[in-house]
Amino acid sequence: MASPAATVILLAALFGLVSISKSADPQECAAARNQNQQALRRDKVTVLMNGFSESRIPLLHSLAVAYSLSPIVSSVLVLWGNPSTPPRVLRQLARNLSISSSSAPISLLSQPSASLNNRFLPRPSHISTDSVLICDDDVEVDSKSLEFAFRVWEKNPNRLVGLFARSHDLDLNRREWIYTVHPDRFSIVLTKFMFLRARYLYLYTCVGGARMERARGIVDAVRNCEDLLMNFVMAEEAQVGPLLVGAKRVMDYGDARNDGEEGVRVGLSSRKGEHRKRRGWCIGEFHRVLGRMPLRYSYGKIVDDVGEQGLCYKGGKIVFCDHS
Ligand SMILES: *[C@@H]1O[C@H](CO)[C@@H](O)[C@H](O)[C@H]1NC(C)=O
Repeated sequence: MASPAATVILLAALFGLVSISKSADPQECAAARNQNQQALRRDKVTVLMNGFSESRIPLLHSLAVAYSLSPIVSSVLVLWGNPSTPPRVLRQLARNLSISSSSAPISLLSQPSASLNNRFLPRPSHISTDSVLICDDDVEVDSKSLEFAFRVWEKNPNRLVGLFARSHDLDLNRREWIYTVHPDRFSIVLTKFMFLRARYLYLYTCVGGARMERARGIVDAVRNCEDLLMNFVMAEEAQVGPLLVGAKRVMDYGDARNDGEEGVRVGLSSRKGEHRKRRGWCIGEFHRVLGRMPLRYSYGKIVDDVGEQGLCYKGGKIVFCDHS
């Protein structure tokens, strides 16, 4: 059962009662449109790390520094999405990041609003690479796997390349789309860690007219599902599914948004059910407003060599991630 609050939001979104966000700053879209694609660097990636929780700042800081030390990283942009964080804390964080012993520059950018669509602003004045790595502030990936995932993306620049996969499916009885995990296939990769062409940020934010505007409005109404919409955008553009890469070592410190999806599945079943229900609803709505279902299945996982091991931090314990 969805909570009453969630139901109200879903109904409000259904009937268009929640204000629909307009596309991004037209100037930013114009600048992105005019960006010289040939001049973008192809040998390095810009890391876009989402930050929200003040309690995770020490972890965010150490992850940002680790990324900045990788030879494939051109710069790290920490995108702060919590509008209620005191400016004093953000000033301190910006200072701390700028003086840390990093290699590539690290900057802190405050999101212009709480909209999750801001995660995919094209930022032509900050991004000068062909690819971006979108990641959360609670997922730690070893440097070799980071580089390997980038190599996989380089060979498949039109696809999303991620470490965490999910699926859409059709519930034939209820005749509705659902969000699920299949053991043998997937059609969605999560923004916990995902490489993509910077061009897709532009397509998500600036292209697609009224249909995409309505789809972005759904993201704002449910405060969720922006990652699913990005998977729609990529599949529509490239006509293929995403790619899944196996990492040697992943620490997933857990994200409230993804609770009940990864690792230990104890005491979270109702939350998990609600989360999945809402994500399934988003898939159905995106299909409805965009007028088609572009998501496609991919199969298998690309691994560097043997010895892959996933570790998840859940409920105070380190456990093996369930990759099945
Ligand atoms: C900044 O660094 C100082 C000194 O290490 C630390 O005490 C403080 O908590 C940090 N603040 C933020 C917001 O990162």
